[in-house]
Amino acid sequence: MGDPPVGSHLVNSAGPGPESGVVVAIDGTSGSGKSSTSRGVARRLGLRYLDTGAMYRAVTWWMLRHGVDVHDPEAVAARCEEPRIESGTDPEGPTISVDGADVAVEIRGDDVNAAVSPVSAVPRVRSRMQVMQRQTIEDALRTGGIVVEGRDIGSVVWPDAPVKVYLSADAAARAHRRALEEGGSDVEATRESLLARDRIDSGRAVSPLVLAEGAVHVDTTDLTLDQAIDTIVAMVESLSSGVSAP
Ligand code: DC
Repeated sequence: MGDPPVGSHLVNSAGPGPESGVVVAIDGTSGSGKSSTSRGVARRLGLRYLDTGAMYRAVTWWMLRHGVDVHDPEAVAARCEEPRIESGTDPEGPTISVDGADVAVEIRGDDVNAAVSPVSAVPRVRSRMQVMQRQTIEDALRTGGIVVEGRDIGSVVWPDAPVKVYLSADAAARAHRRALEEGGSDVEATRESLLARDRIDSGRAVSPLVLAEGAVHVDTTDLTLDQAIDTIVAMVESLSSGVSAP
């Protein structure tokens, strides 16, 4: 009706190609509030939303299901083209499926938590996921843009993103939030698991978690979800007004 097209108020050139739209790259550690914040920003601005961690989790789930040794990078690389991964990018209800089956719940299990870092460190897995992620971004740019969350979005997947954010929070806050999300699991065990994943994600040879060039570091330890969303929305809105966000 009278509504403008999705994201049309955020016209800004981003990435290669003739499309106009905005890419908001949100990278950071596990439990930094990335998912809730990224989804909230997308909803507020009428943009699409892509959770790239869910894609790595989906491949990992498929490997476990097919009996592939997730600690054998060659075995993982040899089979990583097989699963058909599809991500639905509506921020009101993002979806993730493997070979047509919804795996949104399964990919959050302890088995996947423990295996996802070694699987996502395999270069062939990463290059396949990155191709799919860029395709999703290009599609979304035709309808206004997208918020993409992950570890290497601003550094590798879409380094030309006009808004890049690095979200962090101290380990205790992250463990507390993640344990709540997981329905009250043990906070200390959750903290250990988060820190173990951080070490692998930041230390791997291929596209490690880093503060991308041009990224703004937002520490969410003492921010509410709404405050974190407001901070990033202000950065995006300052693009169209030409004024820098504080
Ligand atoms: O955001 P998350 O905790 O759901 O991510 C799960 C794992 O996937 C995490 O261990 C790091 C990896 N990952 C990655 O390597 N690159 C991304 N762009 C996103 C996630």
